[in-house]
Amino acid sequence: MTGAGSRGEGIGNGRAIAVLMAQAGARVVAADRDASALDATLAMIAETGVPGLGVVADVGDPAGCAQIVNGALERFGQLDVLVNNVGIVGPAGTAEDVDPEAWDDAFRINVKSVMLMARHAVPALRRSSAAAIVNVSSIVAQRGGHPSLCYPATKSAVLGMTTAMASHYGPAGIRVNSVMPGNVFTPMVTTRGMSEEMRLQRRENNLLKIEGTGWDVGYATLFLASQAARWITGVILPVDGGLTSSVPLPTPPVSRG
Ligand SMILES: NC(=O)c1ccc[n+]([C@@H]2O[C@H](COP(=O)([O-])OP(=O)(O)OC[C@H]3O[C@@H](n4cnc5c(N)ncnc54)[C@H](O)[C@@H]3O)[C@@H](O)[C@H]2O)c1
Repeated sequence: MTGAGSRGEGIGNGRAIAVLMAQAGARVVAADRDASALDATLAMIAETGVPGLGVVADVGDPAGCAQIVNGALERFGQLDVLVNNVGIVGPAGTAEDVDPEAWDDAFRINVKSVMLMARHAVPALRRSSAAAIVNVSSIVAQRGGHPSLCYPATKSAVLGMTTAMASHYGPAGIRVNSVMPGNVFTPMVTTRGMSEEMRLQRRENNLLKIEGTGWDVGYATLFLASQAARWITGVILPVDGGLTSSVPLPTPPVSRG
């Protein structure tokens, strides 16, 4: 899986996914470009007693994607699951002012890496009897309101790749699904600064009025990766406390009883 570290102390989506998979008995190949962030995750995986492997690699580099899959095959001899979790926020700005070079970088890391990881992983996944890919998107892929253009664009591409790959690889027995996290409280958002007021508002925005965490994203990913979801493919699963269902109707619905 990619992006298995967390950009700060605490539990990001990637770290939670890696740890929950190890707790479920999976031999996790945890990849990240940040060695110290990865080490913290590897220490948590070690506590489960299930062997894992850390790979320091940049998925923005095609060689890095190959290195991760090759590392998995060399160490464990098989591959059953690919989780594409890496995602950076990328450059701020609208179409008028976003930096085009930073735009390309974000697409390389958030989008092209998903294609390249799949390119390297699919030959091995075809040999698995429990093959699954889970791509981590975001609710901003389907909802307006994000101040930048680039991040939602990359996350929409992840959804497009999910449904396309589900049809490409379904006949080969490889399931491809996506989780779409909402306003989860992770280092990805806290390290960019968040007031207590904003944190509270994010919680109040969802239907359950509960703060989501990386663990919520992790459990959803674990389910989609597992054989419990063996008949589920091409699905985009919001993990958002109902936020994407919470837009009230503009006028009360008319009863036709
Ligand atoms: N945290 C949220 O609120 C939230 C909400 C919606 C969607 N998401 C999505 O969840 C995913 C990850 O969330 P997270 O909490 O794990 O984020 P995170 O930033 O805490 O951790 C991601 C890890 O990815 C690594 N990484 C970044 N670029 C990399 C690269 N080029 N190659 C290898 N590793 C790289 C970082 O070093 C970091 O350790 C992303 O796809 C993000 O878009 C997050």
